[in-house]
Amino acid sequence: PVPVAVLISGTGSNLAALLAAAARPGAPFAVCGVLADSEAPGLDHARRAGVPTAVVPLADFSDRPAWDEALAAAVRAVRPRLVVLAGFMRLVGAPLLEAFPHAIINTHPALLPSFPGAHGVRDALAYGVKVTGASVIEVDAGVDTGRILAQQAVAVHDDDTEATLHERIKEVERVMLVDVVTSLTSPP
Ligand code: GAR
Repeated sequence: PVPVAVLISGTGSNLAALLAAAARPGAPFAVCGVLADSEAPGLDHARRAGVPTAVVPLADFSDRPAWDEALAAAVRAVRPRLVVLAGFMRLVGAPLLEAFPHAIINTHPALLPSFPGAHGVRDALAYGVKVTGASVIEVDAGVDTGRILAQQAVAVHDDDTEATLHERIKEVERVMLVDVVTSLTSPP
C-alpha cells in the first residue's frame, strides 16, 4: 500500500475515516504517520491504530521558518508518498511544499474558492449562502488556492448553527476525502 501521512490539529474525524479505510482488506494506502501542531485529541485515533505520531508545536521553535523546517523533517521521517492535511489549521511552508511537490492535499469545509481560510463554515453561514459544502484540493503556496480535486454540496438549513452545519459537512467530507485518497493511491 502507498504510505500516506496525515496532519491534524483537531478531533481527527477525517483521520479516523482514513484509518478505517486503510484497515480494509486490499486498501491501496496505509497511514504511515500522523503529525500535529499541538496535543490534538485526534492523535488518539492514530495511537489506537498503532500508527506513529509526532507533535511539532510552533511555540517550540524560535521562528516560523524553523518550525517549517522541523515540520517538513518530521513528515519526511515517516516516508509518505502522499500528505493529507485533515483539519490541520496552519499554513504549510516552502520546506514541506518542496519536499512533496503535487503530493499534498487539503480538505476544507466550504465550496472553494468561496470561504477559504480558518473559518469556512462560519463565514458561509454569516454570508447567508443556501448551499455550501466541502472541497478537497491540492495544496499550493496560497491559502486554499490549489487545484480542486473533488467537491460536494451541502444545503444550509434555516436553523443551522456553525456546529450543526459543520457536522453535516463533515459527514460528506470524510467520505469524499477517503474517495480522493483511494483514487490517488490506486494503481492506474
Ligand atoms: C474539517 O471540517 C476540515 O475541513 C477543517 O477542519 C475540520 C477538521 O475536523 N479544516 C479547515 O477548516 C482547514 N482550513 P476533524 O479534526 O474532525 O477531521
